[in-house]
Amino acid sequence: QQLESSMDAELEKLVDTVTGADRDVCMKDFKGFKNLFHRFLQVKGPSVEWIKIKRPPEDSIQPYDKIAARGLPDGVAASLNKLVVVKLNGGLGTSMGCKGPKSLISVRNENTFLDLTVQQIEHLNKTYNTDVPLVLMNSFNTDEDTKKILQKYTHHRVKIHTFNQSRYPRIHKESLLPVAANLSMTGHNADAWYPPGHGDIYASFYNSGLLDKLIAQGKEYIFVSNIDNLGATVDLHILHHLVSQPNGKRCEFVMEVTDKTRADVKGGTLIQYEGKLRLLEIAQVPKAHVDEFKSVSKFKIFNTNNLWISLAAIKRLQEQNAMDMEIIVNPKVSEAEMKRHHSALFGSSRVSCFRNMLNKNDGEFPRYQQQRYVDTLDGGLNVVQLETAVGAAIKCFDNAMGINVPRSRFLPVKTTSDLLLVMSNLYSLEAGSLTMSPKREFPTTPHVKLGSSFTKVQEYLTRFESIPDMLELDHLTVSGDVTFGKNVSLKGTVIIIANHGDRIDIPAGSMLENKIVSGNLRI
Ligand code: UTP
Repeated sequence: QQLESSMDAELEKLVDTVTGADRDVCMKDFKGFKNLFHRFLQVKGPSVEWIKIKRPPEDSIQPYDKIAARGLPDGVAASLNKLVVVKLNGGLGTSMGCKGPKSLISVRNENTFLDLTVQQIEHLNKTYNTDVPLVLMNSFNTDEDTKKILQKYTHHRVKIHTFNQSRYPRIHKESLLPVAANLSMTGHNADAWYPPGHGDIYASFYNSGLLDKLIAQGKEYIFVSNIDNLGATVDLHILHHLVSQPNGKRCEFVMEVTDKTRADVKGGTLIQYEGKLRLLEIAQVPKAHVDEFKSVSKFKIFNTNNLWISLAAIKRLQEQNAMDMEIIVNPKVSEAEMKRHHSALFGSSRVSCFRNMLNKNDGEFPRYQQQRYVDTLDGGLNVVQLETAVGAAIKCFDNAMGINVPRSRFLPVKTTSDLLLVMSNLYSLEAGSLTMSPKREFPTTPHVKLGSSFTKVQEYLTRFESIPDMLELDHLTVSGDVTFGKNVSLKGTVIIIANHGDRIDIPAGSMLENKIVSGNLRI
């Protein structure tokens, strides 16, 4: 209690540094933060007892094919008019070396994630003569830049709304009090604030007034997804399944899950817990059970974060204060601390790697490893941020279910390795949607691992004169100072390694099939 009083006093001091409309926003944010902080202090022990975890009952996760087999009625437009598409747009492009919102990175033919989203929805609205709006959940990190860009869609047939998620103070790991000295976002203080994860959507959407406005317009469901998941298109079969359930049996929450492969160790999975479907994230798993959690045989599916949620249910749960999500404690470190510890421990070249890690560049460090890696820093992590995840609220909704969708609905672009795949001839682009080329003989995507010289989008782009033909590629590893000339073709397993000080230029027109290239090759 004493801690909570100290927190209140600190927050009041911070609020006193602002005036005008910002003050109201800030007070609202702090109300939400106090709530989260209070819950954080109450939590004792792990959020799940391993012994109580059960496999979800058969019918709680339905195969997509079964849902699609029911077909579509003539009145698809009526269902579409009940839908709102929401994209989670609070994140930055830092992990791919870009400044500004991630959604504004070009991913295919100069189109950004946001362009592709707008094209997809516009196509739906034109095809079915409907009015599906797009809602962007921005954060204080992305709002200004996103809004500037939105002007370019004024003449598109998509109404675009935005609302802002909260801005919470990072807290010291030991004292648990805010890092911030005042509310300004410059200099040292920029490190002091954070958007508290996508679980913030429920409160922010409700508080913005937009949720009520959309309900008043007759909207019933939102389809929420990560803006960097290019596979997250509106699926008419899932929508129809939702709106055609009889009253009383209405499913309030659908989580699209997909079969796990050995590469998907970090994704959350669905479990049955105390009679309800629940999302289990790796961060909640006791260390002794991490391998079991990662196994493909016991936990077969993972959350794609494509979610279909009833608007009325969100409103009800918010008003009853019944939206309950486990708190994720995300350790952070101030820039100065990070540099000091990291250069001392691992040499300066690892600093950027660590910075990426803190920006959740999970390519190299899955979150469960982050924690362990971070533990080795012995007090270096002086700051924590409290977050929640949108899917964790599944347990609060009535008749929640999972739908096991094809892998193609999960096409996240987290790294430039992912970007290479979606820019290549493996995919074709139509009305904002990417589909795997029928010319590829296997339905799986190649495994691509580009080294650190390719991490930043700008540098990655300069290393390819044109994107290689990858239709017959299975595996590509590239490391060191490597460039690709025009019209290169990659087949089977290709490994290209330029050691430190060497450079390899793959000549224009080369065809590499099951090849290892190393040494020095300049053209
Ligand atoms: P993440 O950065 O959390 O990616 O962003 P992730 O770690 O792969 O995914 P999760 O968290 O395990 O699902 C996922 C999406 O959520 C948005 C990002 O912009 C991205 O679209 N996001 C994330 C927010 O909108 N707000 C946040 O506070 C965090």
